[in-house]
Amino acid sequence: MPHRDRWASRPAFIMAAVGSAIGLGNLWRFPMVAYENGGGAFLIPYIVALITAGIPLVILEYAVGQYFQGSSPGALGKIKKPFAMIGWWALGVGATISFYYAVIMGWSWDYLVFSFTQPWAGGSENAAAFFAHVLRRTSGPGEIGVISWPVLIGLAATWACIYWIIKKGVLRVGKVVMLTVPLPALLTLLILIRGVTLPGAMEGLKWYLTPDFSALLSGKTWLQAYAQVFFSLSLGFGILTAYASYLPKRSDISNNAFITSFADAGFAFFAGFSVFSILGYLAQAQGVPIAQVVEGGPGLAFVVYPTAISLMPAAPLIAAAFFLTLLTLGIDSAFSIVEGVVAGVRDKWNISQNAAAGGFCLFGFVVGLLFATGAGLYWLDIVDHWMNNYGLVVIGFLECIAIGWFYGTKKLRDYINEVSDFQIGWWWDLFIKWITPLALGWALVANVVEEFKTPYEGYPTWALIAGGWSVVALIIIVAAILTAIPGTKREREEM
Ligand code: PHE
Repeated sequence: MPHRDRWASRPAFIMAAVGSAIGLGNLWRFPMVAYENGGGAFLIPYIVALITAGIPLVILEYAVGQYFQGSSPGALGKIKKPFAMIGWWALGVGATISFYYAVIMGWSWDYLVFSFTQPWAGGSENAAAFFAHVLRRTSGPGEIGVISWPVLIGLAATWACIYWIIKKGVLRVGKVVMLTVPLPALLTLLILIRGVTLPGAMEGLKWYLTPDFSALLSGKTWLQAYAQVFFSLSLGFGILTAYASYLPKRSDISNNAFITSFADAGFAFFAGFSVFSILGYLAQAQGVPIAQVVEGGPGLAFVVYPTAISLMPAAPLIAAAFFLTLLTLGIDSAFSIVEGVVAGVRDKWNISQNAAAGGFCLFGFVVGLLFATGAGLYWLDIVDHWMNNYGLVVIGFLECIAIGWFYGTKKLRDYINEVSDFQIGWWWDLFIKWITPLALGWALVANVVEEFKTPYEGYPTWALIAGGWSVVALIIIVAAILTAIPGTKREREEM
């Protein structure tokens, strides 16, 4: 029986799982989504989504990986052969996300260097610096433009780090996360302390937290809550399954699931304070309403934040702390995706960790070049939207069907309860069989309807077909092929 890679300890596993969950999504996505969907009132749909879909699915993905001792396709394929396709689909979505996630991390490398080399300008100059000079952004997705050097170098640096961290398996991962999880938390705390002591900060926090309960009546708010929970917990990418497969069969599941889920949600809420206190400060310093400076995503991290920082004393140091936060937040999410894919490949074919990791990183670098061009940001935006709306939600739904209706929730729950610190009740069966798939199915239908009503962000249709629907189609086709072709590993060996 070949030996399966193992975590050095339970904390190593928990840290790695938390590191995967806590990423850029907690810092630049959650606070904005909350702001736009009811402020403080958003916590209600968020917690509901966490309980009705997030935590039950985290338990499910952990249990499947640990019980079957396999990656997502490997484990699901043991339930019924065709179910391996769900796993490959998950890995395909994860791989696609890693291609652009690494590019974003590349920008963060660049800005870490710029913290010391560039004088920090203010206002629109920062926007121009980022979009025109660093990204060399073109006028639209059809105009490819050039690849900018800093982005290319940053991208290469990111993939080199990912390769170095995972090439020997999870033993090294377990060590790296002992730094990359606490460090960004500490830095975020420092930035938060700096933030709330600035003038205008309280005004910013008011915008973040003042509840608008009428938002709860809108379907969009609820959709956003589910999408955020999924993305943030790294659900539906086969990551949790792969990570849990490196635990011995008799390890806790339910407690680990609650720990990682609450750590992730807690960090997102907490990151909101550091983001909005700084936004409040910036608005006051520029004498504009908050709404004018609020931004999520790259605009927040690379334009708005640098602008605010440039107004503070000791700007280079704060800037460096901030970009180091982005890098350490992102890196453990990035390598978790890659490890998910590598685990899937190695469960099917006899190849070494080093070769699988190296091959994938090289491939990821090459594909990622598309997102490093002048049109890269547009494509990143489109692909990201599709992966989030049609990748993970569908996979979560299918996982519920596979376990709830084919394998049996009771059977899996009995196993979970046998090995876990505390027992989970019949509620879990109810969620996995009915409530979670119904919630996800509804989210999916609502998304598709919305897609056809209003084309995403007004991009031209051809671009949405190329970067959205055809990427989804390609992933499904590749998943089907990988499921159909025989591997070189006998499945029995893994048990
Ligand atoms: N959970 C990560 C975040 O919040 C994102 C992520 C998505 C990580 C997919 C891995 C896989 O940023």
